[in-house]
Amino acid sequence: MTGGAGFIGSAVIRHLIENTDYRVVNFDKLTYAGNLESLASVAESPRYHFERGDICDQREVKNAFIEFKPDAIMHLAAESHVDRSIDDPGQFIHTNVVGTEVLLENARRYWRELDGKTAFRFHHVSTDEVYGSLGAAGKFDENSPYRPNSPYSASKAGADHLVRAWHETYGLPVVVTNCSNNYGPYQFPEKLIPLMILNALEGKSLPVYGRGEQVRDWLYVEDHARALVLVMEQGRDGETYNIGADNEHRNVDLVRTLCRMLDERVDIHPEGVERFEDLIEFVADRPGHDQRYAIDSGKLQREFGWEPEESFESGLARTIDWYLHNRDWCDHVLDGSYQRQRLGLAEGEQA
Ligand code: NAD
Ligand code: DAU
Repeated sequence: MTGGAGFIGSAVIRHLIENTDYRVVNFDKLTYAGNLESLASVAESPRYHFERGDICDQREVKNAFIEFKPDAIMHLAAESHVDRSIDDPGQFIHTNVVGTEVLLENARRYWRELDGKTAFRFHHVSTDEVYGSLGAAGKFDENSPYRPNSPYSASKAGADHLVRAWHETYGLPVVVTNCSNNYGPYQFPEKLIPLMILNALEGKSLPVYGRGEQVRDWLYVEDHARALVLVMEQGRDGETYNIGADNEHRNVDLVRTLCRMLDERVDIHPEGVERFEDLIEFVADRPGHDQRYAIDSGKLQREFGWEPEESFESGLARTIDWYLHNRDWCDHVLDGSYQRQRLGLAEGEQA
């Protein structure tokens, strides 16, 4: 697996080690978003191995194929935060597009040498953001046209197209998944839900972009992890599967819900804060902000019987409780620098 020290990758590895017999190699560069503490519960397993490496580095990737001889690649390594992609698009093109090409080329050479003697597949993990933005109605399905709007989603769309091309041109066995917004434990606190929880606990303002009317479709990360393993095992060669849990919420409603749930759980509020909701502040909108995402995951449900186990209410409660009880993890991943300045404003704009 690539990117196994990140939010989703670590959930997939915990799931694989705790619930299956697979051996897992976690190939990860450990950028600011990668944290081995997220894997502490499985680190001692004889079926888990960590290999520090960069997917953009041809030599490191080649050596990893030679050393570990994988039966499958689950490719999750990426730059994943939209606001960062607005500030530094080049890093996203490098990691998400060039890195995916380096992996695909090495996978192709490795797979050709297997000569059909051993099964192999390349599972590319992508996002619903490649489809662009929806109006008030409708959902993305596997046939929705690609219309990415941010440097992040354009780089992921580029990677998706490369994976498709390596399948069509060279016959590389691939599957692709595109999923909606994940939430849950171990998410880096720059993404909406953990950022709001931690800011609230510290009595800081809760910056809602624009009027908070954009809609996201939320998927609990452990439900996503189960779906990814099903697709890796059973997905049809060359196919795409969309993953989502039918949990659409406007950002402002979600933040208010989080605040109410925190009010119920926290005995002593930060000084001067009576209700967390009072900390909400409407700030300058994200440039190119997609209005609405919603995923039709009917294909996944029909083919594999997958269903989310977590409701939005239970998933949010588990997430909030995890952040309340794991402040050490949060302190360790945060160096604080990105919190002091607002990411993701186009040049010349002020928050
Ligand atoms: P994340 O930012 O939490 O983790 C990314 C991981 O990739 C980190 O461990 C990082 O160290 C590693 N990485 C980055 N560059 C690397 C490189 N050059 N070589 C090796 N490792 C590198 O991301 P996430 O939220 O866990 O997302 C995982 C994947 O799922 C990404 O491909 C993302 O586009 C996709 N995705 C995420 C979401 C979401 O809501 N988080 C939704 C849909 C799809
Ligand atoms: O849809 C899948 C995508 O979801 C993934 O591909 C991305 O990797 C992941 O980061 C996520 O992208 P979003 O841009 O939707 O997530 P983010 O948490 O950054 O923002 C969620 C919504 O909340 C979005 O409409 C912007 C808004 N927002 C975000 C932040 C960080 C705010 O209003 N305030 C904030 O401070």
